[in-house]
Amino acid sequence: MTGNTFGTAFRITTFGESHGPGLGVVIDGCPAGLPLTEADVQAELDKRKPGQSEVTTQRKEADRVEILSGVFEGRTTGTPIAMLVRNADAKSSAYEQIKDTARPGHADFGYIAKYGRRDYRGGGRSSGRETLSRVAAGAVAKKLLSLYGVEVMAHTTAIGFVRAGPATVEEIKANTYSNPVRCADLAAAGAMLREIEEAKRASDSVGGIVEIIATGVPAGIGSPVFDKLDACLAYSLMGIGGVKAVEIGEGLAAAGMRGSEMNDEFYSEGGAVSTKTNRSGGILGGISTGMPVVCRAAIKPTPSIARPQHTVNLETGEEAVIEITGRHDPSIVPRAVPVAEAMVALVIVDHMICGGIINPVRVDVSRNR
Ligand SMILES: Cc1cc2nc3c(=O)[nH]c(=O)nc-3n(C[C@H](O)[C@H](O)[C@H](O)COP(=O)(O)O)c2cc1C
Repeated sequence: MTGNTFGTAFRITTFGESHGPGLGVVIDGCPAGLPLTEADVQAELDKRKPGQSEVTTQRKEADRVEILSGVFEGRTTGTPIAMLVRNADAKSSAYEQIKDTARPGHADFGYIAKYGRRDYRGGGRSSGRETLSRVAAGAVAKKLLSLYGVEVMAHTTAIGFVRAGPATVEEIKANTYSNPVRCADLAAAGAMLREIEEAKRASDSVGGIVEIIATGVPAGIGSPVFDKLDACLAYSLMGIGGVKAVEIGEGLAAAGMRGSEMNDEFYSEGGAVSTKTNRSGGILGGISTGMPVVCRAAIKPTPSIARPQHTVNLETGEEAVIEITGRHDPSIVPRAVPVAEAMVALVIVDHMICGGIINPVRVDVSRNR
């Protein structure tokens, strides 16, 4: 199976399955000298770990990270950083009875079509659990970015048809992880919670939208043709299970606007050029403008729902009815928030290294003081 590696200069390779011994990531290309501890990574993993509320899967995993290599005396050495999280609460029996039947909306059919076999336990590598490796790598990217004044944050802006009101960066930072749906608009958070609970009670699931904002991104990162910053962000976010659409800036709404409404007009202050508005989401021609980078990922309802659904037994070819009993997130959205944050951090750190802003060999020592 190829396609487990992401990035160019800051390159990550993830491994592991939902019900195997564990999951993890190897980062190749993190410069030497970055202060890094397991606690730094754990703080990010704790935002994603399961079982934190009634509206996430009830699987109980501490998701304790072990850094196996690449860090010595509290700093990165420039060698590969390997991180491992061991699985502790895998219950595979619920999957044995559905191992030959393709779950509607899930990856089972594609895996069998391509490989002819799969680790069916907990969805194997197509499980949402794979994303913990991305969050661990994202924690390192975020730590490196923080030295350059770049912050990446994400929050839930919709669950089903319940929409959050606009939130400031300060509100996103203060409120997002204070509630189980990860919404910065606390008034909307309650309604979103009820929406997920209602779907769960109806043996159903619900989708939504995650918005990701990166502040402090310097003007001039990204490339003008295939490696446009917006193209790379879309690729990175679409790689998260369940993501069905990505928007940058005004996104789909731009299609209904006039140029006079969409264009961000420039102004100059003390020699610095900026824009009055940020409808482009901080990117023009594939290159950052210095305004916050803003993108959104639309996430479908969780495919595994506890209702009888029509399917086919892939062994016998006979039609069947599937009833899924395992532990699942009634909405993927709250747990996808830190994952989306991690993917955007990985893209930005990669472009900052490729663009010569971050030294690929060693961290600028003056930034560490
Ligand atoms: C954080 C996270 C948690 C997820 N939890 C579940 C889950 O509990 N049950 C499930 O069926 N799918 C879950 N998914 C979604 C599946 O991984 C995904 O729908 C599946 O791999 C098929 O991929 P696709 O939807 O991109 O086509 C989760 C995804 C993420 C990112």
